[in-house]
Amino acid sequence: MSAGTSTVPDGEARGVPTRGGLDGVVVAQTSISFPDSVNRRLVVRGRDLRDLIDAFGYEQLCTFLWQEPTTGAPEAAPLGEARVRAFRVFQPLCAHLGGLDPLSAMQFLFSSLPRDAAGGHMPADLVAAVGVAAALGVRASGGSDPIAPAAALSHATDLLRMMGGDEGDARKVRALEIYLVAMAEHGLNVSTFAARVVASTRAGLKPSVLAALSAFGGPLHGGAPSLVLDMLDEIGPSAGADAVVARKLERGERIFGFGSRGYDGRDPRTDLFKASHAELFGRTERFDAAAAAEAAILGRLRLAKPGRAIETNVEYYGALLLEAIGIPRCGFTPVFAAARCAGWIAHSHEEALNGRLMRPAARYVGAVPDPRAWPADT
Ligand code: ACO
Repeated sequence: MSAGTSTVPDGEARGVPTRGGLDGVVVAQTSISFPDSVNRRLVVRGRDLRDLIDAFGYEQLCTFLWQEPTTGAPEAAPLGEARVRAFRVFQPLCAHLGGLDPLSAMQFLFSSLPRDAAGGHMPADLVAAVGVAAALGVRASGGSDPIAPAAALSHATDLLRMMGGDEGDARKVRALEIYLVAMAEHGLNVSTFAARVVASTRAGLKPSVLAALSAFGGPLHGGAPSLVLDMLDEIGPSAGADAVVARKLERGERIFGFGSRGYDGRDPRTDLFKASHAELFGRTERFDAAAAAEAAILGRLRLAKPGRAIETNVEYYGALLLEAIGIPRCGFTPVFAAARCAGWIAHSHEEALNGRLMRPAARYVGAVPDPRAWPADT
């Protein structure tokens, strides 16, 4: 049977043109969060993220994300004991982490999480498990022994401690708390979408989080923050920024820490992290060089991509903040995932409650056999 190529059918897509990327396609209704480009803010369950940073620790923010807001402060999600339980499951598996990058180690460990007595997974258990897996993955990749969690500490303090960081430094703990709260939720970003797709099958929370973790590794999404620092290292003193970035753009490379599908313009979390860094750690040499490089990069992007309005995204100063906290570069994406897990769970829950099975269409552009080669059914 020979395949003809004369006609390209619409296939499943039924005439809808596509350039991929799903820009502007609405696939869900949510009351969890809204990146508000017009007013340059992130609205989370009806409140401005900047209020939440001052009002809640990460444990409270989790509860705030997972329930319809009520009056009064949300209770803290019980993450401490849950970290201890997760560590008990993960520790015996740490001998098998050799050679895995931290995110792959997280996926491996997280997959092993057993169901609880009720046959499912509580949101707090999943968030705690992702945090512990992040720390274990980072420690293992550096050849260091695991550090057991301490249930009485805050999630931010313990996360820093389990990674071998200085949990006695109040500035670092505060900076990590700000980072976790600010990065916990952000509309229908790529990893959250992946979680919602899986949740739409009613597979449950854990598989949804696992899907999100897998979507997170790419350099265009959760993998970007460490690449920002690699670029800043390459740039060196800020005077070199223009030439380095011009070369990268000529080679068709992306400039990490710039551009966003979530906002038309500057991401409001960018300046939140910039201000937090300046307030907690001062204007370090690295900070000043990065601020000068930012201006040069934006200028070069405007020249290279006129009409595109590519602005600084959350990863740029987020990476500087993580560096100042003392998180090793290989831990940036794991810590980001540990924060975002709260949002993945909120969306997965919402999707499972209200959503329909997500099943979009593709336009078939391959070859087709000649229909005349087959006699029509009679
Ligand atoms: N550097 C260079 N060019 C860029 C950048 C960038 N950072 N961002 C967009 N562009 C250009 C593309 O090259 C393309 O140019 P062309 O039309 O001349 O080919 C054009 O803008 C459109 O590209 P898209 O990928 O369609 O743009 P979009 O705005 O949808 O992309 C994205 C968003 C993927 C985040 C992009 O800006 C990017 O790759 N940024 C760098 C990676 C990064 O920092 N990722 C973290 C994002 S925040 C997060 O996920 C938590």
